[in-house]
Amino acid sequence: MEALRIITEEHQNLWRIAITLDQVADDVDAGGKVDPAFFGSIFDYIEQFMDGCHHAKEDSYLFPALRQRSAEAAAVLDRLQAEHRNGPQVLADLRAKLASTAAGGDGNAAFTEALRIYTQSIKAHIRTEEKDAMPLAREVLTADDWAGIDRAFLDNNDPLFGDQAAAEFRQLFHRIASLAPESIGLGAHSAGELEPGVRKGPGEVLLKVEGLESCYGRIKALKGMDLEVRRGETVALVGANGAGKTTFLRTLSGVQPMSAGRITFDGEDISAVRSDQRVRRGICQSPEGRQVFGPLSIEDNLRLGAYTQPKGQVEEDMEKVFSMFPILKEKRALPAGTLSGGQQQMLAIGRALMGRPKLLLLDEPSMGLAPLLVQEVFNVVKALKAQGMTILLVEQNAFAALAIADRGYVLETGSVTLTGTGQELISNEQVRAAYLGM
Ligand SMILES: Nc1ncnc2c1ncn2[C@@H]1O[C@H](COP(=O)(O)OP(=O)(O)OP(=O)(O)O)[C@@H](O)[C@H]1O
Ligand SMILES: [Mg+2]
Repeated sequence: MEALRIITEEHQNLWRIAITLDQVADDVDAGGKVDPAFFGSIFDYIEQFMDGCHHAKEDSYLFPALRQRSAEAAAVLDRLQAEHRNGPQVLADLRAKLASTAAGGDGNAAFTEALRIYTQSIKAHIRTEEKDAMPLAREVLTADDWAGIDRAFLDNNDPLFGDQAAAEFRQLFHRIASLAPESIGLGAHSAGELEPGVRKGPGEVLLKVEGLESCYGRIKALKGMDLEVRRGETVALVGANGAGKTTFLRTLSGVQPMSAGRITFDGEDISAVRSDQRVRRGICQSPEGRQVFGPLSIEDNLRLGAYTQPKGQVEEDMEKVFSMFPILKEKRALPAGTLSGGQQQMLAIGRALMGRPKLLLLDEPSMGLAPLLVQEVFNVVKALKAQGMTILLVEQNAFAALAIADRGYVLETGSVTLTGTGQELISNEQVRAAYLGM
């Protein structure tokens, strides 16, 4: 019965459009202008998606099955299908009225009146389907019927409200936000709005760390850490200042020596593998404090991130990074030192991406950034996560990190003291008191 959920959702979207049209009709009646481009694109959407796709699927899959299973369905379905058939003509009439109004023929009132009649008919149609047709379908259709109907409806790609449209919108948001000056920023979002995306289940274990220890002289900074990251997961490592988060990431990268334990990556014990070889295997880090090479150009900073990669793919990969962070493209020839803090963070992440990571290590990407830029950095992490990247995210900004993570670990003076899903840790009393200020 997945189809019924999709139909209901599409009805809700169409209802939102009907209400919007009513609202705009009110504005026009109050002296506003009729904008032909606006109405034209809404009519296009209704014609292509609602008439051409939503109604067509009902007519081809849901309604015929319903007619077959229930004799009493005929009356209501006859009415609904007649409305489906008339839909394109009604829209064509509206377009004609719109054109004549825009050309100064009829007054605006003639158009808004027709528009209101149209929105009323949309709402009445939705009501009839939901009150009469759908309950009957729930009652009489068999599992076999549903299998075919569901298949037809699952393949939906609403150009206005669908997943792809939402993804495009998010991408647009990144672009605008990355181009915005830090001092102005864009749309104040609170960290509380971050939600973990919908994803497939985690894959096999990519990184396994057992009993890891690391020392600075006689001071043991890591005291036997265990941690695991599965392919496709976003794992957050949170903890106070000096807990050992950075030491842990540096030990993973191989730039900080380990004194005990074992690191297994992609099925191989890499405990004794050199750091450059670890990068080659796909462990790429965006370091704490960004550490971009200030005098070098942005482009050259990115090239450095690709030093383990075949030359042939570098340009193409750089374009991918640029499409994610357009500001870097715009400033590609300038010294990295001229970038703002937020932009340098984007560059540091971009540089790590140039190594084609299998596991991306991010050390405090939000550190020292204005709140709006913090949100923007977390959006980037979310976008990477949505693309299927495996991420180990170290943060003092525990709430935001846990909110987007699949799982999290709490680190206290070199030992893991708690672990669980991001949501579990967020609702854990201890974590709330210690890290979330609640
Ligand atoms: N180069 C060093 N020499 C000596 N001790 C160090 C060095 N770097 C870190 N430490 C110590 O190791 C411990 C862990 O530090 P680390 O930087 O890994 O913590 P962190 O969790 O990343 O902290 P922060 O949130 O401040 O980044 C701390 O006690 C720190 O003082
Ligand atoms: Mg640190």
